[in-house]
Amino acid sequence: MEQQLREIEKDALSAIDRAQDSKTLQELKIKFLGRKGRLTSILKSLGSLPKEQRPLAGKLSNQIKTRIEKAIQKRLEALKDLVPGPELIKGFDPTLPGRRLPPGHLHPITQVLNEVCLVFEKMGFSVAQGPEIELDFYNFEALNIPPDHPARDMQDTFYIDDKVLLRTHTSPIQIRTMEKMSPPVRIIAPGKVYRCDSDVTHTPMFHQVEGLMVDRNVSFSHLKGILTHFAQEVFDKDTSVRFRPSFFPFTEPSAEIDIQCVMCRGKGCRVCSQTGWLEVLGAGLVHPAVFRHVDIDPEEYSGFAFGLGIERIAMLRYGINDIRLFYDNDLRFLNQF
Ligand code: DAH
Repeated sequence: MEQQLREIEKDALSAIDRAQDSKTLQELKIKFLGRKGRLTSILKSLGSLPKEQRPLAGKLSNQIKTRIEKAIQKRLEALKDLVPGPELIKGFDPTLPGRRLPPGHLHPITQVLNEVCLVFEKMGFSVAQGPEIELDFYNFEALNIPPDHPARDMQDTFYIDDKVLLRTHTSPIQIRTMEKMSPPVRIIAPGKVYRCDSDVTHTPMFHQVEGLMVDRNVSFSHLKGILTHFAQEVFDKDTSVRFRPSFFPFTEPSAEIDIQCVMCRGKGCRVCSQTGWLEVLGAGLVHPAVFRHVDIDPEEYSGFAFGLGIERIAMLRYGINDIRLFYDNDLRFLNQF
């Protein structure tokens, strides 16, 4: 009996010591001293003891009861003296789990942009940048785009004034880079571009990645090798690539690069207009007139350039049929990436 009583005392005192609030103390009081409490049940069983043991056991029980009551009182006082921390503020339950913030992720366009850049960075290209508010000179003139070229049409370009505009492509970064840097040049230039256009395949703002490599003896076969590798990294290892003759004022010769349709694998479907091919890039060898604008001798150096639209690549990769979905900020769409 005595040992039982000592154990109860020990348990009670250590629990009281650990209690952090009055509610816990109240509960401990009930647990040990309440009508069905541990100590009380011992007191109730005193009657079953041999007569001569009863006074001693009774005395001990009462002493322990007093000690527990005192300890509770003391702990209550001590808690009152504490500066009320958040756990003591009324109505605050520190045992509730915290509210989780759902982690965000990069926008699908940013993801594809980063991935495309990485493919070129692994091939030794470094990243260059240029302003989104650009001079007519860099956006058009230095790129050998004559004043009457359709790309200058007010319908496509957001003009700020006669000489200043929102860049319509990332190609001006070619000029800005070659002004600062002499060959060898090997850069990619990702960024936002702007055109006054909006439908299922056009938004007024979209993203391009420009590429430029200039050195002695750079040839069309370098361009072919690099872009084929790019297409196979971003799409599929065995994607076929096709180079089609085309025209850009700043390259000669120029090409448009198609990949085998990712939807029908070249059989012909609605997405590729039954051709089996999808256009993904514009490219070519840097026009001598462009080199002359930046004082690079076209007799000594040659180079290739290319430009690609990130939204288009993302649409093909994920089978998205409306470019505007990227910019509606609808989480049901964005959460899928
Ligand atoms: N700037 C062109 C456009 O926005 C894309 C382009 C084509 C870039 C050919 C190039 C290039 O560097 O060589 O449509």
